[in-house]
Amino acid sequence: MVDRLAREGAKVVIADVDERVLAAVVASVRARGGEAIGVRTDVTELASVQAPADRAFAAFGKVHVLCNNAGVALWLLGVNLPGGDLKPYGIGVSILCPMGVATQIRASERNRPADLRNEAASAPERVELMGCTLGPETAADMVFGAIQANRLFVITHEESLEPFRRRAERLEQAVRETKA
Ligand SMILES: NC(=O)c1ccc[n+]([C@@H]2O[C@H](COP(=O)([O-])OP(=O)(O)OC[C@H]3O[C@@H](n4cnc5c(N)ncnc54)[C@H](O)[C@@H]3O)[C@@H](O)[C@H]2O)c1
Repeated sequence: MVDRLAREGAKVVIADVDERVLAAVVASVRARGGEAIGVRTDVTELASVQAPADRAFAAFGKVHVLCNNAGVALWLLGVNLPGGDLKPYGIGVSILCPMGVATQIRASERNRPADLRNEAASAPERVELMGCTLGPETAADMVFGAIQANRLFVITHEESLEPFRRRAERLEQAVRETKA
């Protein structure tokens, strides 16, 4: 997404807990003539999230697109879930619901905090996600299209439809059973 937005002329502030990721992504944007700043951020700490916001406003004045995309594979709650409803402020929101995308997500164990490590530090079992695996560029194109059209959901894989249908059926059944 950084590459896609930078290609469109966006100036990017990259917030990541991993300094090596920051250095590599900032360098790749700058190598193509773009403007990028990296700020080490841990999204599980509110105070830490203020830093990239301050840097963005100080360096570029405004923020037009915010991608709340930090995430890990195995200890999700603190990192992936916090969010908010921004409609009252006139801010469009698009929610990316991906299946497999070939990113660094399978290497996310490197960022697991010590207090969230399991006792028996065996290698985590490899989980195969449903559906085909998309390239990150394809997912980024989908996100960019959704931002432009202000679409709420970005569903990357048609294979999602069947589980969505089954979930809707179970919810409908639960409503009937609760009433009965
Ligand atoms: N890639 C997939 O197949 C897939 C499928 C479903 C959902 N997702 C979700 O997509 C989102 C993006 O993941 P990705 O596929 O780009 O993975 P990725 O590992 O390539 O990128 C995620 C980035 O988040 C950073 N990060 C981890 N913990 C952090 C923290 N506490 N604070 C700040 N940064 C932190 C990592 O260093 C990493 O650079 C995640 O929420 C992931 O759960 C990905």
